[in-house]
Amino acid sequence: MTTHQAAQPIENLVSITIDGLEIQVQPGTTVMEAAKQLRVKIPHFCWHPGLPIAGVCRFCMVQIQGMPRLQIACNTVATPGMVVTTADEASKTAQQNALEFHLINHPLDCPICDQAGECELQNFYMGVGLYKSVMEQAKQLKPKALDVGRELVLDTERCILCSRCVRFEDHVASKATQKPGSLGIFNRGDHAEIGIFQNQKIEHNYSYNLVDICPVGAFTSKDFRFKQRVWFLQEQDSICPGCSTGCSVSVHFQPNTKKFYRLKPKENIQNNGFWMCDTGRHLYTHIDSSKRNTEYWVGNTPVAFAQANNAVMSLVQPYIQTNQTNKIAVVFTPQYSNEEYQHILGLVGKAASIFVWRPAQETVEWFDGLLERGDRHANTQGLLGILNGMPYTTVQGLETTNFEQFEAILVLGPEIQDSYPGLSSDIAVLEKQAGKVVYWGCEKTSTNFYAHYPILTFAEKDGTVVNYQGIAQQWHCGTVLYRQIQPIQNFGV
Ligand code: SF4
Ligand code: SF4
Ligand code: FES
Repeated sequence: MTTHQAAQPIENLVSITIDGLEIQVQPGTTVMEAAKQLRVKIPHFCWHPGLPIAGVCRFCMVQIQGMPRLQIACNTVATPGMVVTTADEASKTAQQNALEFHLINHPLDCPICDQAGECELQNFYMGVGLYKSVMEQAKQLKPKALDVGRELVLDTERCILCSRCVRFEDHVASKATQKPGSLGIFNRGDHAEIGIFQNQKIEHNYSYNLVDICPVGAFTSKDFRFKQRVWFLQEQDSICPGCSTGCSVSVHFQPNTKKFYRLKPKENIQNNGFWMCDTGRHLYTHIDSSKRNTEYWVGNTPVAFAQANNAVMSLVQPYIQTNQTNKIAVVFTPQYSNEEYQHILGLVGKAASIFVWRPAQETVEWFDGLLERGDRHANTQGLLGILNGMPYTTVQGLETTNFEQFEAILVLGPEIQDSYPGLSSDIAVLEKQAGKVVYWGCEKTSTNFYAHYPILTFAEKDGTVVNYQGIAQQWHCGTVLYRQIQPIQNFGV
């Protein structure tokens, strides 16, 4: 027997054995959660670690020594000395029977279903199903392709009535909407059907999470539907650049075309739990935007990286060599990684005049009650930490800043330009000093800067950002290295 120890306080722990593996868990832990800690996969549909328990799908049947009948693992609390088996004949038969019930009315439209490839029904059928069906009755037909919200399509025929979506609306999304959920299960028996209450479309900012948690293809995303088969996509972990919460995300892209398709939340219990907001979901579009700058420009001429590097170094070096770095202005937006800020500061010297450029009229204190914050920067805390003890000036927009006194102005412009509604006025301020400005940014904002350089996005580089709670989060997307754009850290090397 192998013994596993969960990383929890040791007092009052409960010892339980699942499929021959022993683990000690906190009192109140369910058999399902203990199995998850042991990496024993118990089939389930309605249980989700971020939602209250419903116990409705009856798929997670397991055998518990000394109990006369099988029990559901999701709603059975571990007790000292409990011995559980999850793959014995009785449990397997019960799981297969539950699966067969779920498939009674489920349409066989997997070839055209957007969820194919990441459908829990498909996966569990292949894992613990493979039974010979005894069903002879025709399937119940239910409404398909319903427009139930700004981002969502609902196919009620595919729904297995697990109620995850209803619980998400009632217990998670409601924290942001301050309203009861829009979803319910209507009618009974074979006619039971998932749906929205009359005139209550799902328009809140967390709607894509319904697509994630729906174990089948009942909820699909208007943005992703029919665009790409999931088995052609690769994932890399990153941090959402949309606000100071810094949700953990996975970025899904097609490796051959290097086209980006979607973001999904990654479990991060300390921070975003299992969720992310819809605003953040759309923050992949700037990566593939036709407006994206992919060239190194010196003046108005595209050049190779080596020439771009020479250009910026020849602008700043005279001041570095004569200890006059106070004639260099460095303008940072809080949308870059700690490593990028440190590299630029290392390049020009800490005596440079530093500006922290934030959007005009931002509502930093705003919080929606769940995740999204008014500080539209993933790395405000990281930047302020790096600048701690150094003189710097924070400016809300650049319109009141006088750059006349500087001989060189290095600007890390915003990656997410929509976070800077006053960007064009700010660029107009910089254009008055155009011959001295080196600007890094996602789009080409001016044609007459001294130099204008492209940047790698959060989905294409490695880095560290610090969120509003002070949690430093690292990500590694450097292997995508898109369009041959160089990391900022390669300047000056
Ligand atoms: S729509 Fe999906 S999440 Fe909602 S009850 Fe049906 S299967 Fe479950
Ligand atoms: S809450 Fe902020 S960090 Fe999280 S997904 Fe939304 S915009 Fe991104
Ligand atoms: S997962 Fe346990 S009853 Fe549904």
